[in-house]
Amino acid sequence: MSLITWTQEQFGTNVGFADNEHKDIFASLNKLYDLATGGADRSEIGAELDNLINIVVEHFAHEEREMEAKGFGGLAAHKAEHDALVSTCADLQAKFKAGQADVTEETGAMVKSWLENHIPTFDFAYSDALNS
Ligand code: FEO
Repeated sequence: MSLITWTQEQFGTNVGFADNEHKDIFASLNKLYDLATGGADRSEIGAELDNLINIVVEHFAHEEREMEAKGFGGLAAHKAEHDALVSTCADLQAKFKAGQADVTEETGAMVKSWLENHIPTFDFAYSDALNS
């Protein structure tokens, strides 16, 4: 069973690019989780971890550009949330590459929980501004 499932009710922002990118992030997170909890090779897990972090970083930058273009007032607080997750992920990535950390069930649960809070709280808030 997938770690996280995108539904319009729980995660729909009414902003097309954001919904599409969120779906890609969910797919990568689910793949990473399945590899990490299914005994895959460390090289495969590392490759998917890199892919997930890349698409998350690109997605955050995309949202921030759109919020800035619309003069959205919530940009600074929103960006701070993004930066905190990127920092956590970059730390894990460095430790994974150094053989000092693994991707675990807890890693998946942490990212899932972050998305379940962030999208409805922060991403929903830009919906009107980005559609104006
Ligand atoms: Fe879709 Fe603010 O992350």
